[in-house]
Amino acid sequence: MTDQAPAAPVESPDIPGKPIAASRTTLSHIMTHNDTNLLGTVHGGVIMKLVDDAAGAVAGRHSGGPAVTASMDEMAFLEPVRVGDLVHVKAQVNWAGRTSMEIGVRVLAERWNESTPATQVGSAYLVFAAVDADGKPRRVPPVIPETERDRRRGQEAQIRRTHRLARRRAIMELREKRAADGIED
Ligand SMILES: CC(C)(COP(=O)(O)OP(=O)(O)OC[C@H]1O[C@@H](n2cnc3c(N)ncnc32)[C@H](O)[C@@H]1OP(=O)(O)O)[C@@H](O)C(=O)NCCC(=O)NCCS
Repeated sequence: MTDQAPAAPVESPDIPGKPIAASRTTLSHIMTHNDTNLLGTVHGGVIMKLVDDAAGAVAGRHSGGPAVTASMDEMAFLEPVRVGDLVHVKAQVNWAGRTSMEIGVRVLAERWNESTPATQVGSAYLVFAAVDADGKPRRVPPVIPETERDRRRGQEAQIRRTHRLARRRAIMELREKRAADGIED
């Protein structure tokens, strides 16, 4: 945790910004018996793969090329998903840094053969890094928010980034200190 203010939006003056709508993506899939866990409901890993796939499509579209998953956090499973559910995975870019992007994902489910409204069953935030042909990080376009909701999501993404970086730094500092003190695991 940190008491630092969220980082200011990163300017990439030589790369034109892209509106969020240009890369927003929905991936839909009907759940079958192949997708279940031992309890008979859909395996969380099946949902996570769809989440990663949809977020990867957004990252690729926003950055205009290959992008890899750097981290996935705050994956929440709110309701069980069942065989026969039509699952919609909706993903959009919330924030872009120099070479990384945060993608926000909402997971909705409805019965495949009923006209009842879909309910939200999960959500996640992922960080993708855009990479070049050698797998090295490359610059990404700034995000152009279009609505107040987009602006709020961008502000919240910066808070999450501040905490991710602070947590990583604190853990590295602890490990370095233990190593310097000669403590072995
Ligand atoms: C992600 C990866 C490209 C980062 O490479 P790196 O040499 O550490 O490069 P950097 O430290 O400059 O990080 C690049 C960007 O990613 C961000 N990043 C890196 N690791 C991160 C993490 N664990 N969580 C959040 N953001 C991360 C950095 O903050 C930086 O963002 P910025 O440029 O917008 O500030 C590299 O670690 C990698 O290739 N990982 C494997 C990815 C992969 O194979 N994913 C699929 C798994 S099956």
